[in-house]
Amino acid sequence: MIRVGILTLSDTGAAGQREDKSGPLIQKIISKNGGQVDYYQVIPDDQEQIAAELIKMTDDLGLNLILTTGGTGLAPRDVTPEATREVIDREVPGIAETIRLESLKKTPKAMLSRGVSGVRKETLIINLPGSPKAVEECLEVVLPVLSHAIELIK
Ligand code: MTE
Repeated sequence: MIRVGILTLSDTGAAGQREDKSGPLIQKIISKNGGQVDYYQVIPDDQEQIAAELIKMTDDLGLNLILTTGGTGLAPRDVTPEATREVIDREVPGIAETIRLESLKKTPKAMLSRGVSGVRKETLIINLPGSPKAVEECLEVVLPVLSHAIELIK
């Protein structure tokens, strides 16, 4: 059983001004595919806070997989990739590259996501874009490799 954490990055979501639809959608997709969601949090687009949260989710909670959603674009407050780079030991470029490659078949705007993927200790971290549509499309791309990737890390 893969233990999964979901981290939604959104200033308005964290302030309670907008309902987070993407986090619960990830939860639904993961549960449907045999994973177990052990942690879910919505926090603002703040690099320091995101990095601290990612460290907590890996080092303290020991999750197998962290899926972030949001904050991967070009807006000044989009800092999820920077926070992720700050905490990972090794990058897994193929995951982010394939997400973008497959997503480009759905929308040219896919090239605007700067999401990264990597490993910290025994946890795989994958940045997904923020919209529910993007979450659904991108998860479909990575689902087939997740259990093998996690087996390799352990
Ligand atoms: N990828 C997929 N598969 N589907 C999408 O609809 N939206 C794009 C892109 N990636 C999209 C996608 C858009 S419009 C943006 S701006 C970037 O992801 C960054 O999104 P974010 O800032 O919410 O992370």
